[in-house]
Amino acid sequence: MSKIIYHGHSFVEIRTKDVVIYIDPFIESNDTEIAIKHCDIELKDAKCDYIILTHGHADHFGNTIEIAKGNDTTVIAMAEIADYLYSKGVKSHAMNIGGAYNFPFGKVKLTLAHHSSSLPDGTYAGNPAGVLIYTDNKTIFHAGDTSLFYDMKLIGETNKIDIAFLPIGDNFTMGIDDAVKAAEFLRAKTVVPVHYDTYEVIKADPNEFKRKIESIGKKCIVMKSGDSTEL
Ligand code: NI
Ligand code: MN
Repeated sequence: MSKIIYHGHSFVEIRTKDVVIYIDPFIESNDTEIAIKHCDIELKDAKCDYIILTHGHADHFGNTIEIAKGNDTTVIAMAEIADYLYSKGVKSHAMNIGGAYNFPFGKVKLTLAHHSSSLPDGTYAGNPAGVLIYTDNKTIFHAGDTSLFYDMKLIGETNKIDIAFLPIGDNFTMGIDDAVKAAEFLRAKTVVPVHYDTYEVIKADPNEFKRKIESIGKKCIVMKSGDSTEL
């Protein structure tokens, strides 16, 4: 059984029997425009075995370097991001869209995401990705930042997704109605809205999303930063 903890924005933590995995660990930023405090943990307390990055944008790449260096963490990311991390002295595992690899905790597969991707210093970061994690006999999907796209149907047809983290904030990603359609395409059993309310331009009502998800017969968990659920 895995425990899943939501830390705000797109930062999701998965605790399996043996390892702690962070996805998109955005804890704090030097950018003074990012004034909305969203994360329940402090950088000094961040500790994990693996980090999985969906793309290079600052609100996802987050504090990867500080966390990884302090904890001997392996970062799993698109090849361009993995190369960049290697050059910064961080242990990384390069992957690319459509490829899967068996890690000690389970399998990770990167999927399409329709978005853009560059690192905080402007370095090219390859394509953005979504990520499928198969661990403890469950399938977890984190969509990263993406628009709605029809191939989500294929992801849903070829996977039994137990829980999907989908952005609902609009402006940079899917908004509520597109994310509801995405949940349908993905055939996700349970859906958790992410990537909203952290910035002024991505304000969204998670309860509206929840109502709409429930109206198509699916379960939706609205999680506050620090909330957890068991899988
Ligand atoms: Ni982004
Ligand atoms: Mn983002």
